Amino acid sequence: MVIPFEEEYRKEFYKLEEKIFESNMWSEGQILRDFEEKFSEYVNIDSRAISSGGAALLAILEYIDVKGKDVLVPANTFWADARAVQMAGGNPIFTDCNKEDLCLSLNDIKKKTTDNTKAIILVHIGGHIAFEVEEIVKYCKEKNIYLVEDCAHVHGAWWNGKTGGHYGIAGAYSFYATKTMPLGDGGMVVSRDKNLLKFVEEFRNYGKEVIDNHVYYRIKDGFNFRMSEFVAALGIIQLKRMKHILDWKRELAKKYDQIFDNRVKIPQGMVSGYYKYIVFDTNLKQKTGQVFGPGDLGTYISGRDAEIPNSKWITEHHSCAPIYLGYEYAGKSIDELRDILIY
Ligand SMILES: Cc1ncc(COP(=O)(O)O)c(C=O)c1O
Repeated sequence: MVIPFEEEYRKEFYKLEEKIFESNMWSEGQILRDFEEKFSEYVNIDSRAISSGGAALLAILEYIDVKGKDVLVPANTFWADARAVQMAGGNPIFTDCNKEDLCLSLNDIKKKTTDNTKAIILVHIGGHIAFEVEEIVKYCKEKNIYLVEDCAHVHGAWWNGKTGGHYGIAGAYSFYATKTMPLGDGGMVVSRDKNLLKFVEEFRNYGKEVIDNHVYYRIKDGFNFRMSEFVAALGIIQLKRMKHILDWKRELAKKYDQIFDNRVKIPQGMVSGYYKYIVFDTNLKQKTGQVFGPGDLGTYISGRDAEIPNSKWITEHHSCAPIYLGYEYAGKSIDELRDILIY
């Protein structure tokens, strides 16, 4: 896999780096604030940068305070969600997904909810918004449970005027090197809750709060989860490239839609960011890593008796057609792509 970064954007990035050298602020400076402002505009919700997607999840869970509480997490996703719950002192409860969208199943959420359930982490897995998101929001409100959104895959997806992070108390974006908007490493917490955002500002910086030029260290769980000015500069440039990245992916997805029938079918009106293109029971000649694998599931449920039949089915029946920017065969015709991709 390649990570393209066109010459014109490299030049813009170098200019921003110069600005950082001139400012003498390599951390906690204006470039970070500019990136947060631009990302907020992009997702249409307030944002605070942090060192990774995992740190974003941890910050949100610490704010909610899940110590001793159960948090429902998808069984079919990366370890980050369960691990963040453990680090925040909570118990991850592995919950099943739907076969249609690979995202949390409301049915299974209902089965796994108890009086000790404090939060649910909904991963918009694969680049589309969870199909049952509105029903899950309603259920969480009824039960007084916090909804946290893991937005690591969902960059660029929209549904009825909303994107990842608009539905719950907060969303956690990742800018890891393989994500739709890569910065190498980095993350963003998005939320409408001003207190939560203030907490994140302190939490990412050892709990530091400055009042009248005095520094106070207030939050006992705070640590260094800062994003440096150099990473934030790359973020500003990547945001300018997002239209190009997403248009490219959507163009290829349109061709794939004509090749694959047995696949995740995006509902009418939803725009996917196509982090992955997920097909079922298809023997692909060329593919990228699964959106999650049997190995992940094995790690999660060892020693547990998790009832997660759909998640187990999906590990064995899904694969991902290449849809990363720079895929060398993307320009081919539908017939050519069919030959290249399917045995
Ligand atoms: C669904 C999901 N959540 C969280 C993360 C963690 O993000 P990060 O690597 O930025 O900590 C990842 C992947 O990296 C992911 O795929």
